[in-house]
Amino acid sequence: MGTVISIANQKGGVGKTTTAINLASSLSYLGKKVLLIDLDYQANATTCMGIDRGSFEKSVFDCLTDDEQLANVIMKTDNPMIDVLPAKTTVDPVEEKIIMNSNRDFILHTQLSVVKEDYDFILIDCPPSLGYVTTNAMMASDGVIVPVQCEFLAMDGLTQLLNTIRLVQSKKKVNKETLTIFGVLLTMLDTRVSSGFQVVNEVKTYFGEKVFQTIIPRNVSCSNATFYGVPVTEFSPKSKSSLSYRQLAKEVILRNE
Ligand SMILES: Nc1ncnc2c1ncn2[C@@H]1O[C@H](COP(=O)(O)OP(=O)(O)OP(=O)(O)O)[C@@H](O)[C@H]1O
Ligand SMILES: [Mg+2]
Repeated sequence: MGTVISIANQKGGVGKTTTAINLASSLSYLGKKVLLIDLDYQANATTCMGIDRGSFEKSVFDCLTDDEQLANVIMKTDNPMIDVLPAKTTVDPVEEKIIMNSNRDFILHTQLSVVKEDYDFILIDCPPSLGYVTTNAMMASDGVIVPVQCEFLAMDGLTQLLNTIRLVQSKKKVNKETLTIFGVLLTMLDTRVSSGFQVVNEVKTYFGEKVFQTIIPRNVSCSNATFYGVPVTEFSPKSKSSLSYRQLAKEVILRNE
């Protein structure tokens, strides 16, 4: 049965999508079969996995509105170990449709149960918001990875995120299910400036053991890879950011045992 992990932080640009695609890629190198779910209207994860936005009709949002079965929307990628549930820019009021559904908290959970056994890991790239789309991701998940950018005001908004996690935890408890903070991931550390290390200390003081030992450095290969729409682990396999994502994958596997 696959472990489902949401990559969430309502703050924009902290490295959620970069983490989702590179963790998927790195886990696949370690022999793990991965489903990457793109829950962001920007559809960056979909594009970065080599899927042309014009090449499919239905997206994950059709699953969230219960208009389509999830298994029918999953797409193969060039990497046989990674499948993608793609996102598409949509004008459909997805959040409003979810609210109307009596199963509103569990739509993704229910849909995902059908394919869970086909994968070792299911990674969900969440949008930068804490609406029903993100809570559906968390309700369907065993754990959350919270990327925190090593920049000024890094901890800003984390209280709100933690409150949402607690709310989901209490709802899942009713079904005897759990949601853990799988790990807090420090991202985009600029090793040339001391303020970045201050954030590292602050986050470690607050989250203790939850913080992954692996820290993702700020690295130009990573932004270049985004520009070309590929994971950095493939674009520049020997770059510092690529090596750190591969290290992270090992930590994730260890924590999952
Ligand atoms: N380690 C890194 N080094 C350099 N640039 C990075 C690194 N990680 C991410 N970036 C860049 O930072 C930007 C934001 O990253 P990303 O899209 O992963 O964040 P996000 O949290 O998914 O954003 P959003 O909230 O908009 O979905 C991207 O342009 C990406 O290329
Ligand atoms: Mg993103």
